[in-house]
Amino acid sequence: MNTQAIDRPDAGKTHDIVKDYYGAQLQSTADLKTSACCDITAIPSWLKPLLANIHPEVLARYYGCGLVAPALLEGCRVLDLGCGTGRDVYALAQLAGAAGSVVGIDMTEPQLAVARDHQAWHAERFGFANVELMHGDIEQLDALALEPESFDVIVSNCVVNLCADKGAVLAGIHRLLKPGGEFYFADVYADRRIPPALRDDPVLYGECLSGALYWHDFLDLARQHGFADPRLVTDRQLEMLNPEVATKIAGFRFFSATYRLFKLAALESACEDYGQAVIYQGTIEGHAHAFELDKHHYIEAGRVFPVCGNTWHMLKGTRFEPHFRFVGDFSRHYGIFEGCGTALPFDGNPADATGGCC
Ligand SMILES: C[S@@+](CC[C@H](N)C(=O)[O-])C[C@H]1O[C@@H](n2cnc3c(N)ncnc32)[C@H](O)[C@@H]1O
Repeated sequence: MNTQAIDRPDAGKTHDIVKDYYGAQLQSTADLKTSACCDITAIPSWLKPLLANIHPEVLARYYGCGLVAPALLEGCRVLDLGCGTGRDVYALAQLAGAAGSVVGIDMTEPQLAVARDHQAWHAERFGFANVELMHGDIEQLDALALEPESFDVIVSNCVVNLCADKGAVLAGIHRLLKPGGEFYFADVYADRRIPPALRDDPVLYGECLSGALYWHDFLDLARQHGFADPRLVTDRQLEMLNPEVATKIAGFRFFSATYRLFKLAALESACEDYGQAVIYQGTIEGHAHAFELDKHHYIEAGRVFPVCGNTWHMLKGTRFEPHFRFVGDFSRHYGIFEGCGTALPFDGNPADATGGCC
């Protein structure tokens, strides 16, 4: 990775921009100038009843860019990084249930104040109190009173792009996740590296555009911090709603994307074929017909579904394990798993057919 090309902006400066933008400039979702920090995709039917239990003031100040609710959260301990006024915190709290819990962290006091103002209201509405809200900098997670390896799932919605030191965020997440836990998050990515002159523009930065990583630099950074096989779940290209913003960033394309990063020591740098398969039992609530691990793994219930070693680990070494049957083991390697983005780099040689050499 060209680390010079993604050198870090000054954290003090970017924090001031972000606190001003989200704490003072924006009053509601309607003030946004792009579709970056506002997920305009249709709200799925399963989310609607959860949102109906969330206070209108919290909903009005939602600035997320995607959905951050993976399957099977009941009983989980969840952490939301850059929780803002808490829309996702209160939605996830309902999914985690009384046996689970959600911690939300944000550095912008006015945002957190809205979340706190309605904490008791939500507890009464849900019939249980399982939310904790903390003021803090997610680039310094080890400065907060959070036990290492204590979270099943960490989420974040349109926040990492606003962080000056994205590597520090990923390192902190890796430290806080339990083995087999996952970071499931929506964020903004660019189709190329953003030059510092654009990055210094407070509106472009606040709108979640100019702090965005070039997507391939993100993949490298994730691998560098222990997440060997980042999995893309969904993506959409962003629309520039404001002509001034559109002119400033002409020539760049931006995408909102949801990735899931599993903390699994066994993951390899590529998808390797060990001749394995899984069978989904159809037993995850709300996913009776199929389980979607990521954009390329839609696993229908009851079907023998061939998988690479990494996908096997993502299902066997995580909270999904009881919902699958597993076929095969790692005793024999069959080369690279075809169709997973990496292919045999060598040209075929007719001599192979006869086993000849030289
Ligand atoms: C685009 S808003 C998204 C808020 C929330 N996730 C939502 O979906 O409504 C970004 C939030 O990230 C917070 N944030 C940005 N950088 C942060 C950091 N280094 N530490 C803590 N919070 C941060 C901001 O204060 C702001 O509330």
